[in-house]
Amino acid sequence: MRVTVIGTGYVGLVCGVGLADFGLNVTCVDCNQQRISALQRGEMPIYEIGLEEILKRCVKNHRLKFSTDLKTAIQQAAVIIVAVGTPEGANGKPDLSQIETVAQSLASSIQEYKVIVVKSTVPLGTTRRLNDLIKKQQKRKVKFDIVYNPEFLREGTAIEDFMRPNRVVIGSDSKEATRVVKEIYRPLYIIETPFIVTTPEAAEMIKYASNTFLATKITFINEVANLCEKIGADVHHVAYALGLDKRIGSMFLHPGPGFGGSCFPKDVRALVEAGKELNSPQRLAEIVLQINQAQSEIVVAKIDRALQGLDQKRIGVLGLSFKPNTDDVRESPSLAICKKLVENHAIIQAYDPVAVPNSRKVLSGEGVIFCENAYDAVTKVDGLVIATEWNEFRNIDLIKVKSLMKNPVVIDTRNIFEPQKMKKIGFQYFGQGR
Ligand code: UGA
Repeated sequence: MRVTVIGTGYVGLVCGVGLADFGLNVTCVDCNQQRISALQRGEMPIYEIGLEEILKRCVKNHRLKFSTDLKTAIQQAAVIIVAVGTPEGANGKPDLSQIETVAQSLASSIQEYKVIVVKSTVPLGTTRRLNDLIKKQQKRKVKFDIVYNPEFLREGTAIEDFMRPNRVVIGSDSKEATRVVKEIYRPLYIIETPFIVTTPEAAEMIKYASNTFLATKITFINEVANLCEKIGADVHHVAYALGLDKRIGSMFLHPGPGFGGSCFPKDVRALVEAGKELNSPQRLAEIVLQINQAQSEIVVAKIDRALQGLDQKRIGVLGLSFKPNTDDVRESPSLAICKKLVENHAIIQAYDPVAVPNSRKVLSGEGVIFCENAYDAVTKVDGLVIATEWNEFRNIDLIKVKSLMKNPVVIDTRNIFEPQKMKKIGFQYFGQGR
């Protein structure tokens, strides 16, 4: 089966590469000529573990190609997957202009029956609106079906999440389209992946509700962690015990400086906006956003207390991406913390294994020195902040770190170190909720 994937961002590229690896014939299309040329040369536009290897293998086996010719790619494929960006607009609602442009191309290019699969995260009701929009713009009334098939992949483990998802959600009104979508995911049947076939509206809601629930879970444990600090309890013991209750579950109960990235903040805001628009307020989601925003301020206040003021303090920051194994710094709590520290006249020595180039674009100007490695970042500092839990920081030579620092004060916002061990080495150590 021939599949065209429109959009070579995170979701589009991982999906295109994943489906090619499933044995399908895939063309990934993007209007960004530079990006497509780079992909044709085998250069990765994003850092994602395992992606490059599978991509190169599929290109070599002629199952995957890249193009800017949208019309031809639409006409040649039986299934068209829409994975263009839906960035947040000025009003907190997703900006659908890219998806509307794709709808125009679909309306003018389709000459025979097609299954259109929307993967971009879209506001409630969009799938049906797109269906109507394409129909309205079609000069010749060629039949097509449109399906909403949300993606649940996490950056850093995107390939694994695509190849072994917890579930596949198909929001469809058409038996034929449902059959075709099931067919493209056939290898997942072998590993007994649950398939949920529902309406497009419910599928759209599943996507927003999943992300909002996970963001709520993180926010809950962050607040519990803040309280644990006040009473001298270890939040890890609390989270572990909570997680053993099967009704709660252990995942996404790790405290930190707040959730970030391109999905959780945007999707929770979108749900809040949808609630307002449809007169069904999403009060819990609203408060989650407020608490999350305040979490980086709580961390900065803790650094301030630990270093007895921030003015002219030299602070090492390890980790800039919003989480490990990605170079993505969108809504990264680490960058929010760095900005606030600089506003308070601290000098930052920052290091990240891959996210320095992206961070430079956001943290340019005075106050931040980007370092070549973690040891340079801790040299002569008044304090060290662990902001992202990269494995390379877990295995850092702590004796060397202590000898390089001016004052051995560590604020570990991700709890990658053991408090007792840190104290034994001679650090003044501040974890998160411990
Ligand atoms: C998230 C979801 O986990 C995916 O299922 C979803 O497909 C994706 O959004 C999306 O909508 O596209 P992602 O943004 O890549 O994936 O990252 P997560 O691993 O979910 O982490 C999000 C944030 O929460 C990070 O800042 C992370 O550090 C934080 N987090 C996560 C915690 O603070 N504690 C935890 O226990 C887990």
